[in-house]
Amino acid sequence: MASVTLRKLKASDLKYFSKWWRDKELIRLTSGNLKKLSDLEARRYFMSMLENEKSWQYMIQSGRKTVGHITLAARKAGWYETQIVIGEKKYWGRGIGSIAIKKLLALAGKNKISKIYLEVRPDNLRAVNTYKDCGFVAKKNKKYLNNKNLPKVLVMAWQKGRK
Ligand SMILES: CC(C)(COP(=O)(O)OP(=O)(O)OC[C@H]1O[C@@H](n2cnc3c(N)ncnc32)[C@H](O)[C@@H]1OP(=O)(O)O)[C@@H](O)C(=O)NCCC(=O)NCCS
Repeated sequence: MASVTLRKLKASDLKYFSKWWRDKELIRLTSGNLKKLSDLEARRYFMSMLENEKSWQYMIQSGRKTVGHITLAARKAGWYETQIVIGEKKYWGRGIGSIAIKKLLALAGKNKISKIYLEVRPDNLRAVNTYKDCGFVAKKNKKYLNNKNLPKVLVMAWQKGRK
């Protein structure tokens, strides 16, 4: 398998998000918001990621091919939230997601960050299995009463040293 690396997000990456954010299969596994996304909105969301100084934004590379995106964002009380998407679907199930998360966790560790959690759709079993594989454990179910696209998530937290 080609080597998996993380590289910093850059301005020319907008093209990937323009595609992934409109992919219905990806949307159903993530935000659930199937509302049509204009180019202007896509650019606005992308710029807010690029300029966000409270989060790490990395693109996931498989060899030279850019296949996904992974983030680590500062939240409350010293906690950090991670999110991942392998947008290029033919790269699913090849171990790339697990490797990317483990690389992010290693970077976090170097920066003395260990309170890391994520939120996932409880029925997104590929994602839940990947997270377990990387040392995350299920903590609680959380309801978003005002979000009909994503009413319930499973919160998982990293148990350092588990993997
Ligand atoms: C979820 C995601 C990041 C996982 O990355 P990946 O590279 O596809 O996953 P991996 O190849 O590392 O495999 C992870 C595990 O899932 C398991 N798996 C693969 N396909 C599966 C499926 N259809 N159902 C259940 N488990 C599955 C694998 O067996 C593996 O577990 P194992 O190591 O214990 O055998 C990636 O598939 C993705 O981005 N999916 C679409 C968007 C998404 O769901 N993002 C997460 C939102 S919270």
